[in-house]
Amino acid sequence: MPVVATDISVAFGERRVLNGMSATFEEGTITALRAPSGFGKSTLLAIIAGHQKPDAGTVTITSADGGDDTPGISWIDQASPVFPHRTATDNVAMGALSRGATREESLTIAAHNLTRLGLDDVRDRAGKRLSGGERQRVAVARSMAAETPVILADEPTASLDAASRGLVIDALRAAADAGAIVIIATHDDTVAESADRIIRMDTLDTPSAPEATA
Ligand SMILES: Nc1ncnc2c1ncn2[C@@H]1O[C@H](COP(=O)(O)OP(=O)(O)OP(=O)(O)O)[C@@H](O)[C@H]1O
Ligand SMILES: [Mg+2]
Repeated sequence: MPVVATDISVAFGERRVLNGMSATFEEGTITALRAPSGFGKSTLLAIIAGHQKPDAGTVTITSADGGDDTPGISWIDQASPVFPHRTATDNVAMGALSRGATREESLTIAAHNLTRLGLDDVRDRAGKRLSGGERQRVAVARSMAAETPVILADEPTASLDAASRGLVIDALRAAADAGAIVIIATHDDTVAESADRIIRMDTLDTPSAPEATA
């Protein structure tokens, strides 16, 4: 089932950030959110994640079986937090543990996802000793290990070179191919071009405007 955001408005004091925005995000697709810095991309992701309440509007996310349980959402944060005293492996394994994998399974899943993100060399390194770009890829790998139906990625390639960026794009594409709803806030043209759809938030000028460009 899609993620449906309807008539979302948010203001911080006098400052209106989202002005009646609506959008639908389909399973098996990657959507890139584009807009200038400060426009409200992270705010929209936080609202979809349920971390923040909009001043008006609704977000509906229905689980695939039609039940009331909200499906799992993973969040790849703009700041790429990792547990500083845990190894890269343990950080990624937590994603698998969160969906009920055993410790042993989670280590296998972590190894696979570290490899696909080019992190074999740092798998035993503590989170606090990872570079910014390594942390960013650990955050992506953890999200992949969690296999959630919804993946929200806030500038997941901001600290990465072209090669690492390609690995992140490939991982997000694989998740979408497996059925996930992937929503990426990005300033990166290469990431946006790899998406199935781009929403240019700054051109959604009317409340509840139909969605933007394909
Ligand atoms: N809790 C808050 N209180 C006040 N203002 C806030 C709060 N959170 C966000 N804002 C403001 O809302 C605006 C939108 O912020 P947001 O982080 O969503 O932008 P963004 O599009 O993700 O920008 P960037 O590309 O720089 O990440 C900004 O002007 C920001 O300063
Ligand atoms: Mg942001």
